[in-house]
Amino acid sequence: MAHKRIGIVGYGHLGKYLTKAVLERPDLDLAFVWNRTTILEPDLEDKYICHNLEDCGHYSPDLIVEVAHPVISEQYGPMFLGLADYMVGSPTALASQAVEDSLRASATTHGLYIPAGAFWGAEDILKMADRGTLKALKVTMTKHPSCFKLEEDLKAKNAQVCGNEAVTLYDGSVRGLCSLAPNNVNTMAAAAMAAHNLGFDGVQGCLISDPKLTDWHIVEVEVTGPKIAGKNFSVKTSRNNPADPGAVTGTATYSSFLSSMVRAGGHGPGVHLC
Ligand SMILES: NC(=O)c1ccc[n+]([C@@H]2O[C@H](COP(=O)([O-])OP(=O)(O)OC[C@H]3O[C@@H](n4cnc5c(N)ncnc54)[C@H](O)[C@@H]3O)[C@@H](O)[C@H]2O)c1
Repeated sequence: MAHKRIGIVGYGHLGKYLTKAVLERPDLDLAFVWNRTTILEPDLEDKYICHNLEDCGHYSPDLIVEVAHPVISEQYGPMFLGLADYMVGSPTALASQAVEDSLRASATTHGLYIPAGAFWGAEDILKMADRGTLKALKVTMTKHPSCFKLEEDLKAKNAQVCGNEAVTLYDGSVRGLCSLAPNNVNTMAAAAMAAHNLGFDGVQGCLISDPKLTDWHIVEVEVTGPKIAGKNFSVKTSRNNPADPGAVTGTATYSSFLSSMVRAGGHGPGVHLC
């Protein structure tokens, strides 16, 4: 079987990690790497460096992976989907209904892939959404205050967290949270895509800033299913991910992201979780 050719958009923490992994793996080929600023990497051959994203089709990618910024999906998502399968690493971009609609509408030949990230049980939740039996979904993320990268009111609220007391920064729709914490809630955006019968307005997101949490990021997922004889089906999981203070992305999230990239591609048109 031909090797999957991967194009990487963004050369920050995740982009560097994925580029190295692709070059090391025997089953993957690097098609291109793009960054908005010049890539200064003596070990990366010039033939891999794409200088203009509009030309990325010249590198014949099978799968394009965005690990830069949510704005990339808005600007280039439809173009990518015309060329190859597309894995959106910053799925908070899809909290804009217009972006979600344009990407779904463009995934007619190739597929749009959403990495599950720290979202446990994505496949089961997707199946329940497909059957219409998913009644409610809540995702709670608890981190040390230094691990959040927030905007507007949430930033001010988090700056005031002190002592030992955990503070709830936000509890409401995932749609409302994505623009306030775009780097922290990719997992919740993946949840909203999996739980497509509830979507970004129906899935509940909760962010808790906890000064006691110096070594972990905690992601809790609460699923509510149908009522049977007056009793609700329910599932509750808690994922404790080791992370240093100040780390926006937990250690296990890098390897989870790589697994998603390896699984992504080749499943035809439409939206897929990976
Ligand atoms: N899905 C997940 O589970 C998951 C996990 C971690 C990070 N992410 C997301 O992946 C993306 C990259 O994460 P990272 O940790 O590598 O970040 P990073 O800050 O280390 O790297 C980001 C890279 O993108 C570039 N960039 C920033 N803003 C840009 C813009 N407006 N247009 C084009 N390029 C831009 C930067 O120059 C940098 O090279 C972020 O959006 C982050 O939220 C997703």
